[in-house]
Amino acid sequence: MNDCSGREYHEATKHSWLSVRQNPHRLDWENQPASMKFYPEDLPRVKLSKAYQAHTFVYHIGGITAKKSYPGVEYYLRTNPSAGALYPNELYFQARGVEGFGDGIYHFEVGSSSAVRLCGIGEEEGIEPLLGLRHGMRGLLFMVSAVWYRSAWKYRDRAFRYCLLDAGHILGAIEAGAYLYGHAWRIAYGIDLEGLGRFFGFGEEEWFLAAAICAVPKRDRSVKIPGVSMPRTDPLGGVEAEPYPLIARTYRETMRLRGCKKEPRFPAFFFHEAAWEEAIQRRRSIREFSKKPISKAQFEAIMEIVNLPVPSDCDEPLAIYAILNRVSDVPIGIYYNGRLVKSGDFAQKAGYLCLEQRLGSESAVTFFILGRGCNYRALCQKAGLLGHRIYLVSEYLGLGCSGIGAYYDDEVREFLEDDGMVLYALAVGV
Ligand SMILES: Cc1cc2nc3c(=O)[nH]c(=O)nc-3n(C[C@H](O)[C@H](O)[C@H](O)COP(=O)(O)O)c2cc1C
Repeated sequence: MNDCSGREYHEATKHSWLSVRQNPHRLDWENQPASMKFYPEDLPRVKLSKAYQAHTFVYHIGGITAKKSYPGVEYYLRTNPSAGALYPNELYFQARGVEGFGDGIYHFEVGSSSAVRLCGIGEEEGIEPLLGLRHGMRGLLFMVSAVWYRSAWKYRDRAFRYCLLDAGHILGAIEAGAYLYGHAWRIAYGIDLEGLGRFFGFGEEEWFLAAAICAVPKRDRSVKIPGVSMPRTDPLGGVEAEPYPLIARTYRETMRLRGCKKEPRFPAFFFHEAAWEEAIQRRRSIREFSKKPISKAQFEAIMEIVNLPVPSDCDEPLAIYAILNRVSDVPIGIYYNGRLVKSGDFAQKAGYLCLEQRLGSESAVTFFILGRGCNYRALCQKAGLLGHRIYLVSEYLGLGCSGIGAYYDDEVREFLEDDGMVLYALAVGV
């Protein structure tokens, strides 16, 4: 077990009542990193349009859905949520034989709603070897990275948790979009992270975290990595990243996977497609609950989706706790994987545990996701993906949801009598 990754990091980045009071952090607004990456303008771009299904699919994975304006600042909200709206992740993909994209390797440039073609690929070329794929693949191969300092600028060492959870949300957005695109998909964690970083010309400011395969083998022949030098750009918009040795060390540690179990099963979603698409487009984090109850059927529908398999090459088991504060016709209390383990009204406690955020106490249900798996990179991204399912199903059911990344780690463990790592919390209600 000592061989497990992320343990020391998770321990070192716990919040407690004392730690949040003793270590206040003043934000350096003059030096906030850019939250969007732009490649040079002279590179070819494909403007995403509704005319192509594949364009809509890519747009669903992090495209802009709302703009907020405050005096002196404007910022954009996306299909995916992100801790502090800092959006540390970037999305790249290879398209081969996909209508609407010439064969090539692309960056999803969220700011212009386009795909920037970083390089073309010939019949015998492709990124497949770096993703551990033996054959040339027809379809879309997605790669998710983290520009970790965008988040560390605010959250310091705890930011790596958010980079992983946010990446999990991106994987969840791929899952949600793949359902409409009508294509099977799976996550690949066991990829050549360093090789990919080298191929894309990244320095220490951007790291790959996972891939998602939405493609089928094209033929029995392998392909070769394109021998090109990829274009480069600064993902922080001219801001210099301060060093965070704990984050850097933890990323290296989480690169290697140990004792992974494969999950070959695919989740059978049952959504009405137009309503599902609306849920993807409309998803937002709720800021305040009305304190009305949700129905038993709504709670059960959320649990059903959460319990569907997540196809990947490194599936880590997670424990899902639900604190039911207000659900009609169901005894309130603590539920573990859908089963009542302790009845009682714990609403105030749930809010306190979420760093005294009212979202946690005024919700109908506050979820805590815990895990003790060995592969921290896979573990946290799966928690983020389940979080995305909870967001989208809530929206689909006419409810509201918010991710909660800030909680008193050890007090949550004590309360739930579970010594796993507390990975994520979410509040759902109306
Ligand atoms: C990993 C993660 C942690 C979050 N933690 C909190 C939190 O502790 N409190 C909160 O009010 N919102 C939290 N949020 C919600 C974000 O603030 C929200 O996603 C972001 O502002 C963008 O807004 P949107 O989700 O409405 O698009 C979190 C979101 C994510 C993905």
